[in-house]
Amino acid sequence: MKSTIYYFSATGNSLEIARQISKGLDNCTIKSMTSQLPKKPVGGPDEVIGFVFPVYYLDMPLFMEQFVENLNILPGTYCFAITNYARYKGNALGNLEEILQNKNIQLNYADDVKMPGNYIVSYPPPNPDKLKEVLKNSRIKVNNIAKSISNNDEKPVEKSLLSRIFTKHLKFIIFGSISKWDEKFVSDNKCTCCGQCAEVCPVENIEIVNCHPIWQHHCERCLRCIQWCPTEAIQYGKKTVGVKRYHHPNVTVENFIETKD
Ligand SMILES: Cc1cc2nc3c(=O)[nH]c(=O)nc-3n(C[C@H](O)[C@H](O)[C@H](O)COP(=O)(O)O)c2cc1C
Repeated sequence: MKSTIYYFSATGNSLEIARQISKGLDNCTIKSMTSQLPKKPVGGPDEVIGFVFPVYYLDMPLFMEQFVENLNILPGTYCFAITNYARYKGNALGNLEEILQNKNIQLNYADDVKMPGNYIVSYPPPNPDKLKEVLKNSRIKVNNIAKSISNNDEKPVEKSLLSRIFTKHLKFIIFGSISKWDEKFVSDNKCTCCGQCAEVCPVENIEIVNCHPIWQHHCERCLRCIQWCPTEAIQYGKKTVGVKRYHHPNVTVENFIETKD
């Protein structure tokens, strides 16, 4: 049996979950949803396809939606989706299920995991004690999820009509103004022109011009550029000045590059 986990992760939480699940699966490959779409159809009977991703604005990341819509999945595939979030999970799994249903693909197993929050423009990461507790609880939950998935168990998406209606409107409002959002990114004099911000941006929204990052106005707001800058030289206006950066303790920036095509 072959298994593939498609993931997106800005700060490593989803990647760590994907790795933990992959240990219980035969012949499992972890692939980034920022890579090129596979040219051939994927999955099929006796194959497993999984999606692991963070909640963005009560939904899935926008480019992930496009990735899944365009992914050619063969009928009969055992499909799972695990999302993770800091406070409000919204209807990310319900919206993903709808996309799969439109392709006549069943979402066999769906669940969510609470993880440390990384939306640095609104709040700092948890303090060390809280961080330890959240990561410990998540490991326990993901362990159980991994066992269920390796047994090909079924778990339907929890339905919430309210969040379903709400997420549709929220997405419209948020991504209606997508182009203007990145105008507040700046790099300060700590910038060493290393180019890591451009390298980690999942949607190639950063160009290095005269040794400075320039954002190209199609930002998806994952904030990888801020979180992974080795000198903490990138700020979002004044909101992130002096705020601690976050990434999952087991994940390095090279890990993202390894799982790219
Ligand atoms: C753009 C953006 C939007 C987010 N929206 C939500 C949200 O609606 N609800 C929530 O609980 N967490 C939200 N978060 C927090 C992440 O879902 C959470 O920290 C997740 O574990 C990050 O996973 P990653 O490290 O794999 O990127 C958001 C984070 C970002 C960057």
